[in-house]
Amino acid sequence: MIKNHAAAAKLQLVNSAAPQGDAMPSPLPLMQLSTGFWAFKTLAAGHELGLFAHLSRTGTTTADELAVALGIDRRPAEMLLTGCASLGLLETAGGRFRNTPASEAYLVPGKPHYFGGWIEMADKRLYAGWGKLTEALRSNRPTTWNPDVQASLFDGEDPKMLALFWEAMHSLSTMTARALGQAFDFSPYKRLLDIGGGSGAFDIELCRDYPGLRASVFDLPHVADIAAGKIAEAGLSDRIDTIGGSFFCEFPAGHDVHLFSMIMHDWDEAKNRALLSKSYHALPAGGAVVISELLVDDDKSGPAPAALMSLNMLIETEGRNYTPAEYAAWLRDAGFVDIETVRFDGPGANGAIIGFKR
Ligand SMILES: C[S@@+](CC[C@H](N)C(=O)[O-])C[C@H]1O[C@@H](n2cnc3c(N)ncnc32)[C@H](O)[C@@H]1O
Repeated sequence: MIKNHAAAAKLQLVNSAAPQGDAMPSPLPLMQLSTGFWAFKTLAAGHELGLFAHLSRTGTTTADELAVALGIDRRPAEMLLTGCASLGLLETAGGRFRNTPASEAYLVPGKPHYFGGWIEMADKRLYAGWGKLTEALRSNRPTTWNPDVQASLFDGEDPKMLALFWEAMHSLSTMTARALGQAFDFSPYKRLLDIGGGSGAFDIELCRDYPGLRASVFDLPHVADIAAGKIAEAGLSDRIDTIGGSFFCEFPAGHDVHLFSMIMHDWDEAKNRALLSKSYHALPAGGAVVISELLVDDDKSGPAPAALMSLNMLIETEGRNYTPAEYAAWLRDAGFVDIETVRFDGPGANGAIIGFKR
């Protein structure tokens, strides 16, 4: 029988059982925590070597067959297969390994929900920056780019970084957009302005879900070109346009709902307040602004995906991940009313704060 190890792969980072009497708490959660990068690098290496794509083509493999296919020795081929099976990335029976349904859906290039762009960015870009996390904590400066040379993460136009960053964002945002589209009803709105819309993932997904919606991706000119390509690929160029420009200048007019997805966590409070104030003035009465993010709890105790994304913003930006209370205060000060938080589970957001202009 094919065995699925996904449940065993679930990390138990918190030792919930209180020690009895003089008993020591278990060190196992710390062992898991301190070797978290072993699991990540196993996934990243399997992906980089094309393991999941190979299995998608062949169905199953033995270690011997994989060694030949990947041009590596049998010993590492077997270790890679066992490592991936232990993490729930592969299923195994009788010495043969195959993709789990999740690996088949998300780790095979060309599949509609391909997630490999994010894995590649985490491996090739973020991993090195996180290696200098202590330096970032001491200096309060990013580590993935040089702030003495660039004004922001988005300032560099290195084509390799461009391709990697926006491919990664597209992987992440396609699925986040679907979750947002179910949590918040966009049907009362006709024209969406996706501010810093990146690859256009939100616009593509929301326009698919809401046939009455049209959208504009507003981003830096070289990014708007990337979005135009994705929109054309999706066959939605008649409903989604792109506007090249800086959101620190004027906002385009003519939209009744504004979206900020993973924008505010890039910037400090003063810049975010300025963006919200501009949004308020650009929207008509009856309009709404939606801020989609991994929200940190108001008591700042977690949750881990938001708290760790916040540290990711330390190595990448001048921002951090903010709380619903912080966003609500900024929205209120900008003039928005009836502020609400909707919750959902996406890889790039766990909720959205919405403000209305009456
Ligand atoms: C973290 S990405 C989020 C992309 C997209 N909203 C998403 O969730 O997939 C931040 C985006 O802000 C854009 N951006 C940064 N500075 C900008 C500026 N001054 N004007 C317009 N867009 C900007 C970047 O190019 C990038 O696409």
